[in-house]
Amino acid sequence: MSIPRDYDSDPDRFRLGARVTADHLTGPSLYAHLADRLRHVPRVLDIGCADGALRAELPQVVGVDAAFTMLRHHPAPRLMADATALPFADGSFGAAAAVNMLYHLSDPPAALREARRVLAPGGIFVAVTPARSDSPELAGVWRPGRSPFDAEEAPELVSAVFDRVEVERWDAPLITLPDQEAVRNYLIARFVPIMEAENASLRVSTPVTLTKRGVMVWGFVQL
Ligand SMILES: C[S@@+](CC[C@H](N)C(=O)[O-])C[C@H]1O[C@@H](n2cnc3c(N)ncnc32)[C@H](O)[C@@H]1O
Repeated sequence: MSIPRDYDSDPDRFRLGARVTADHLTGPSLYAHLADRLRHVPRVLDIGCADGALRAELPQVVGVDAAFTMLRHHPAPRLMADATALPFADGSFGAAAAVNMLYHLSDPPAALREARRVLAPGGIFVAVTPARSDSPELAGVWRPGRSPFDAEEAPELVSAVFDRVEVERWDAPLITLPDQEAVRNYLIARFVPIMEAENASLRVSTPVTLTKRGVMVWGFVQL
C-alpha cells in the first residue's frame, strides 16, 4: 500500500522529520550529492519538491508538488501538479528528480513514464527511496511499512522505463539520535501516533545510531 499523504492536513509531521534528519545527520547530505551530479544541467524538474530542499542546493530547479501547503514555501518557479500529469511539454527538462515521493503513489510506473516524457534526449532522471530494512536498530519498536516503491524494487521499476540505469545504494550509520525526544520525533515523522511514539522512545536506549538503507536510482534517456 502507498504511504499516506498528509502534507496539507499535517505539514508539521514532514517538517519534524526534516528537522530531525538535519539535526542528527552524521553523514553527507543527500541534496548536496544530487546537486553535485546535476549542477551542469540548465533546467531541473523536482517532482514532489515540497518546500525546496533540493532547490536550496540547486538554483535551476523548477518545483512541482501536489500539496499547496508545501509548495507555497518553495521559491518560484513552482507549480501545483500531480506527478502523473505534469503540465509541461515533451522534452522540456534536462533532468528530473523524484526524491522520497514515489512511495506515495499507487502506480509509480505512471509517474516514471511521465518524468521520462518531459525529459529531452540525453536527459537524466533520479529517484530516491528508503529500504524496507531501514533503521534496523529500531526494529523492537518500529518497522517501515511496505510501499509500491521501496529500494528493493526501485531499480527494476526505473529500468523498465529508462534506457539505462545506474544504482547508488547506501547502508551505513548515518543518523545518531541523542536522546528519547529525538527518537520520539523520528518515530512521529514516520507516522507513529504521538502517544505510541512517546512510549516506544522509552524502550530505546540512547544515544542510538541508525543504519540508514536506501537507494538512488539514476535513469538515462538516450541521446
Ligand atoms: C516526503 S516529501 C519529500 C519532499 C522532497 N522531495 C524532499 O526530499 O524534501 C513528499 C512530497 O511529495 C509530494 N507528493 C506526493 N504525492 C505526489 C504526487 N502524486 N504528485 C506530486 N507531488 C506529490 C508531497 O506533497 C510531498 O511534498
